[in-house]
Amino acid sequence: MSKHTRVVICSGSGGVGKTTVSAALALRWAMEGRRVAVLTIDPARRLADSLSIGDIGNTAVRVPLERLGGHGAGHLDAMMLDAKATFDDLVRRFAPSDAAASRILENRYYQFTSTRLGGSHEYMAMERLYELWHHGGYDVVVLDTPPTRHALDFLRAPDRMATLMDEGVLRWLVMPATRSGWRALELGSEAVAKVLGKVLGKGTIAEIAEFFEVFRELWDGFRSRSVEVQALLRQPHTSFLLVSSPSPAARADALYFLERLGEQRLPFGGFVVNRTVPAPPPPPERAHLPATGPLPPDRWAAVLASVEQAPRLRARLARDHDQAIDALRAAGPPGAPCWRIPEQRADLHDLAGLAAITRHLPALSEIHEL
Ligand SMILES: Nc1ncnc2c1ncn2[C@@H]1O[C@H](COP(=O)(O)OP(=O)(O)O)[C@@H](O)[C@H]1O
Ligand SMILES: [Mg+2]
Repeated sequence: MSKHTRVVICSGSGGVGKTTVSAALALRWAMEGRRVAVLTIDPARRLADSLSIGDIGNTAVRVPLERLGGHGAGHLDAMMLDAKATFDDLVRRFAPSDAAASRILENRYYQFTSTRLGGSHEYMAMERLYELWHHGGYDVVVLDTPPTRHALDFLRAPDRMATLMDEGVLRWLVMPATRSGWRALELGSEAVAKVLGKVLGKGTIAEIAEFFEVFRELWDGFRSRSVEVQALLRQPHTSFLLVSSPSPAARADALYFLERLGEQRLPFGGFVVNRTVPAPPPPPERAHLPATGPLPPDRWAAVLASVEQAPRLRARLARDHDQAIDALRAAGPPGAPCWRIPEQRADLHDLAGLAAITRHLPALSEIHEL
């Protein structure tokens, strides 16, 4: 069953609309009659509420599509990534015994570092994706990725994650002065030492040693799981969509992601350019505007001038956005689809808002590897 489950991963820089687009794609496909899961990362509060995942986290929650007049065979399950709970589950799964699992889970060093190591959040997103793909009974699983430029870095080596804890922690212990080692905690080295001391208190070194001793037994499990996740990401039913806004910075990030996908032979499915301005209707003719109004003549003339000017500015913006999209397309592989979502009047924080943009998004059958 899982062999035919599609996977669609939305990547892009922070704030471009990955969470919104992931949820809207999932909604669209559920309304098409598919069995859909969407795993989102940090949705805005109201969106989380309207997807009913407010406080639930990793557990799948059925989204009430009937509120939108939904019918048919499709359904939508939403969940929000809980990286810590996912990591804990992995520890339980791969620990050789319940006792070993408890030793790790109760280890304060593990508790402190498990979600702070660079890349662990991204990995846990992939891990949840794998579980949903494997066990969920869905037609498609949509993954919203964390908003980091390095979201794809961990894909470079299949066993990167298996060694994440090992390597990262060893580097801190053995080479605390190297910047890359400390950077994983995004603190200066003295600060790390201080924080570790404060959080872990006495017996720090003993706990770290214990952690290593026990964690080593999980290594094989983590490693083989990484290999499976890698395979999933490269299977023919997986597609990465790159979400961007028309802005040069967001496009540069999308192209950076595209390059990483190419390097790692990950399947690219197309661009989604969000928040574009559509071409406005032609500006009103001065003759159709009242020549006088409730203001002194010079102020009224200024009002008329801006009424005339506004659509021109919008038209220019729309042209800029068209050019931005052309540039993005030209930088992508030949024939790369590019779906554009117009800027909406209000933020998209509920099901009705998402439903309003679904018509700009592709049907599941339109997503192919390029
Ligand atoms: N097309 C759009 N029109 C208007 N607001 C949008 C649109 N797309 C996204 N937004 C809003 O922009 C904000 C950021 O979107 P979000 O999906 O959270 O971005 P990301 O997940 O990439 O950080 C949210 O408040 C969202 O409601
Ligand atoms: Mg987001």
